[in-house]
Amino acid sequence: MKVLVTGGAGYIGSVAAEMLIEAGHAVVVLDNLSRGHRAAVPPEATLRIGDIRLQQEVAGLLRSEKVDCVMHFAASSLVGESMEHPGDYFDNNVIGILRLLEAMRETGIDRIIFSSTAATYGEPRQIPIRESDPVEPTNPYGESKAISERILSWYRRVHRFRYASLRYFNAAGASEAHGEDHAPETHLIPLALEAAAGRRSHLGIFGDDYGTPDGTCIRDYIHVCDLADAHIRALELLEQLDGKDEAVFNLGNGEGYSVREVVAAVERVTDHEVPVRNLPRRPGDPARLVASAERARAVLGWRPRRTTLDQIVGDAWSWMQRHPDGYES
Ligand SMILES: NC(=O)c1ccc[n+]([C@@H]2O[C@H](COP(=O)([O-])OP(=O)(O)OC[C@H]3O[C@@H](n4cnc5c(N)ncnc54)[C@H](O)[C@@H]3O)[C@@H](O)[C@H]2O)c1
Repeated sequence: MKVLVTGGAGYIGSVAAEMLIEAGHAVVVLDNLSRGHRAAVPPEATLRIGDIRLQQEVAGLLRSEKVDCVMHFAASSLVGESMEHPGDYFDNNVIGILRLLEAMRETGIDRIIFSSTAATYGEPRQIPIRESDPVEPTNPYGESKAISERILSWYRRVHRFRYASLRYFNAAGASEAHGEDHAPETHLIPLALEAAAGRRSHLGIFGDDYGTPDGTCIRDYIHVCDLADAHIRALELLEQLDGKDEAVFNLGNGEGYSVREVVAAVERVTDHEVPVRNLPRRPGDPARLVASAERARAVLGWRPRRTTLDQIVGDAWSWMQRHPDGYES
């Protein structure tokens, strides 16, 4: 199959592109390099630099490359930034998917796998969180993904599109070739590793008075290679869908780890201390976010394989040691 991977120069998209190629698929990456890296695109993939919002260009690409289906990773994804610039988030994420879907409709491509997020749930009603729980995002980023899911659902109902929406919890870890290189970096594990390596003076811990055993927030960390594996399985599932089924899946480990547990794992793995500074809570940070991934297990046959915190942190650390300055720009 030939797969268009939007955002394939980014963190998760580049690992998915790598695993698609390993599985024997052909990959075309579409990325505007606003946050991604040319060097993150696997050499076997074709890189087309462009923006998903330019419908005619995307349609031309889908036609000329004879694409069969789309994995859609390209988005803006920083919660804090979305609270400052909501318009930019709705523009890139909502207008982005709309233009992409229209380009697909124009060219007769009706299969898409979408990167959604735990941020669609907002403050959880129960732990673990299930797909049937209310979607009540508390920031424009989560809202942009929730709106995208509604749009996808209408394209399914009206145009018979086949889609899977994968709601990731906290992506972490690295493959051999691909790792996390965000600027600015906002994710806990790379920040803690940078602090351990002395590349950052300290790690800020936002709140230590939550109702959790050690007072810090609990999150569900899922290895980026396990995420990519779920995408390949979802691609196979799309073959069996007939446009009648909703396919929304949580992707998480089902295990929660506190910020302090992550810090301890980073100290174990790196054998360096992580200097920490306790800071006030951030508004809108729920105490716990842990997935029920039962549906993905049952329907996709998906089993996360790199589940221990030390393994996830260890892979991120190995990649960081091989790429101390991130990707070559
Ligand atoms: N990283 C996580 O923990 C996490 C969790 C939940 C959901 N997600 C979602 O997964 C997807 C990938 O996340 P990531 O961490 O790899 O992000 P990333 O920023 O590393 O990658 C996104 C890529 O999309 C590209 N891009 C952005 N807007 C574009 C546009 N208009 N046209 C073309 N390319 C564009 C960027 O240049 C970048 O290469 C995103 O949709 C994100 O919302 C990520």
